[in-house]
Amino acid sequence: MSNDSLLSLLEAEAGEYVSGEEISRKLNVSRTAIWKQVRKLEAKGYHIEAVPRLGYRLTGKPSRLSIQELLPKLKTNLFGRQLHVLDVVPSTQDELRRLAEQGAPEGTLVIAEQQTNGRGRMGRHWVSPAGKGVWMSLLLRPPVPLQLTPQLTLLAAVALSRAISREVPVEIGIKWPNDLLVGGKKISGILLESAAEDERLRYVVVGLGISVNLEEEDYPPELLEKAISLKMSSGNAVNRSELIATILEEFERLYGLYLEQGFAPIRSLWEAHSVTLNNETLLYTPQGSVKGIPRELDETGGLKVELPDGTYRTIYSAEIGE
Ligand code: BTN
Repeated sequence: MSNDSLLSLLEAEAGEYVSGEEISRKLNVSRTAIWKQVRKLEAKGYHIEAVPRLGYRLTGKPSRLSIQELLPKLKTNLFGRQLHVLDVVPSTQDELRRLAEQGAPEGTLVIAEQQTNGRGRMGRHWVSPAGKGVWMSLLLRPPVPLQLTPQLTLLAAVALSRAISREVPVEIGIKWPNDLLVGGKKISGILLESAAEDERLRYVVVGLGISVNLEEEDYPPELLEKAISLKMSSGNAVNRSELIATILEEFERLYGLYLEQGFAPIRSLWEAHSVTLNNETLLYTPQGSVKGIPRELDETGGLKVELPDGTYRTIYSAEIGE
């Protein structure tokens, strides 16, 4: 039995119960097989009520993102105007990279309902189940030197944090460089990948992952200590299309500001949202661990850390210890 045949049968009954016996007869399958398919459909975001003696009833379908729904919500000139909404991909980063190589314009956006090989920073896996998050990549072609791309990571974190705060009543803090936390747990991550030629920046793929409507059971148990979704933290499901439109609006506005006025205004905004500054921190840098108190960003986007002897060291790449 395919998932589709059970779904069609339940859909044809438009919210009425269909007995296990009838499904079994019509699809020529066992009761156990029906139950397994029900679980699979539920994993895809369908809601199916199972009541002894009455049978099964379809009570909800997964919300799906679509170009038709998203486009009218956009308030941007460029960001998201070239829009690709895909179903299942290994990673939106690779899809967008392919389009970038074919000459896609700045602002091109790839969104997927599900990623089978979503990736995070430091080669980590990024949990991206179907229909529950915002998994998307945005193409930038900024006229800046390659070594300044970390500034865009910080810019992206500010844009995301401002957008989420507009849509959901949660308090967001940015952990350097670009993790978004709610109550100390991660709700979102940003992965910036750039393509350069002879030291010249060709384009940047900004990957944004936001855990929007994930439930506890969507996370591997070891992640639950450190990760949370917007739904879990606010108690309410969040409309993903509205959120995406607001993210693009904030991102485009801040990016315009950055191109006009440079990093200074972004730096102040980042510092105002940061939970890293002024707290004693252990930083694991490629050169070894550093203990100190991060005090501010420097003009390139590096983190200026006050060491126990009162001197300062600027860190450009590190993982922050717990
Ligand atoms: C991190 O915090 O480690 C960064 C996570 C970035 C995840 C997003 S989801 C959309 C895009 N596609 C990917 O494969 N990764 C990024």
